[in-house]
Amino acid sequence: MTATVTSEATEPGGSAQQSGLKFPDGFIWGAATASYQIEGAATEDGRGVSIWDTFSRTPGKVFAGHTGDVACDHYHRYREDVAMMADLGLAAYRYSVAWPRIRPDGTGPVNTRGLDFYDRLTDELLGKGIEPLVTLYHWDLPQALQDRGGWANRDTALAFAEYAQVMYAKLGDRVTTWTTLNEPWCSAYLGYASGRHAPGITDPVATFRAVHHLLLAHGLAVEALRGAGAGTLGITLNPSAVAPLDPSSAADQEAARIIDGLHNRIFLDPLIKGAYPDDMREHMARFTDLGFIQDGDEKQINQPIDVLGVNFYSPAYVSAKPGTPAAPDGPGTEGIAFRPPVGPVTDMNWQIEPAALTRLLERLHNDYRVPLLITENGAAYPDGVHDEHRIEYLDGHLRACADAISRGVDLRGYFVWSLMDNYEWAEGYAKRFGIVRVDYTTQERTPKDSARWYADVIRRNGLE
Ligand code: FCB
Repeated sequence: MTATVTSEATEPGGSAQQSGLKFPDGFIWGAATASYQIEGAATEDGRGVSIWDTFSRTPGKVFAGHTGDVACDHYHRYREDVAMMADLGLAAYRYSVAWPRIRPDGTGPVNTRGLDFYDRLTDELLGKGIEPLVTLYHWDLPQALQDRGGWANRDTALAFAEYAQVMYAKLGDRVTTWTTLNEPWCSAYLGYASGRHAPGITDPVATFRAVHHLLLAHGLAVEALRGAGAGTLGITLNPSAVAPLDPSSAADQEAARIIDGLHNRIFLDPLIKGAYPDDMREHMARFTDLGFIQDGDEKQINQPIDVLGVNFYSPAYVSAKPGTPAAPDGPGTEGIAFRPPVGPVTDMNWQIEPAALTRLLERLHNDYRVPLLITENGAAYPDGVHDEHRIEYLDGHLRACADAISRGVDLRGYFVWSLMDNYEWAEGYAKRFGIVRVDYTTQERTPKDSARWYADVIRRNGLE
């Protein structure tokens, strides 16, 4: 079966709850991965160097010095991996393209051997009835562009739009759903504020420049792909389900407003409403004269999109606490305290609270009115194939999705993170998110109990 996000997947106010836990007909069931996390083959077929190659080799940056050089060796094993997806009954697969495979130095000649890999992968998926959802950027920027300033440099946005068009020219006849960026919050704030992710910079001005140029990259690419005839276009964010610790406290509400602004509205408002929120302009102005926002940029960013990808893992609760230093990934957040996790957590120490997902989806629906897709949701647990905790996590979050649908949210599908264990960025291979286990010595794949459970969910289009 194939499905696209433009199909009428949900009936607002529909029957997800009334009919037990059936999802709407056409609800898209998928799994997600990302290039650097699974492909390996880091120097093969002309691939250029990415910022993650550089970062992972920098001592002290990644757990045990792990790199993505080999990862899951998916570059060579993609046929086996697609067969595995077909066995699970996936209707869709979200993969990302490694920009350095396509334009090894970011802007120069196109590397056809890199393009051919995604061509083969796409055909393999379609041959098995699995719809590809392509993410154009999941964090592996060509190092050559970083050497010129990376996302802090406006030219990177222009280079991204060119690269997007190269990909569309190759795959646009077969790929109908395209998303530009994965979680620009992480690219900007983890990459340029806390430095916990590549390129490892700690500079608030560069952070806000990166926010803006990432958004601009999205807008330029969407306009170009729309012009070229692309069907379904969108972006994936990791919106925060942030709430004041004490909802009756004005100070806690104020703390939540700032975090909501930095995490959510600074992206969503220009994307969907066409302008940065006033309070976030003021917030950024504490660090910079905002000279990087040129006339017409906000209009350029505000391209109509067909779908908003939502990655969700965990809620956040904040309170006002004078004297608290700013969070490393939050320029200007001094005086705001994040509550440590309460209750059950995953192996990432992320609090588990499915109801927060329902709340977030309703908020996005009410404030932004755009069709939604869960492009990532899942949990890390220690190694092992009997993963009842992961099943419990997924079951809870799918129920939260069903709740949101029954309350009128236009949610079109769900992609589990992740198809298989993979390179978890700064955590290296220490954290396992897969519904399929990967033995990194032999590259053997073994479906975990959660994979079999998910296959059943897909088959019955719902939960028991
Ligand atoms: C998200 C990333 C994804 C994965 C999950 C656990 O922020 O998009 O690549 O690492 O977290």
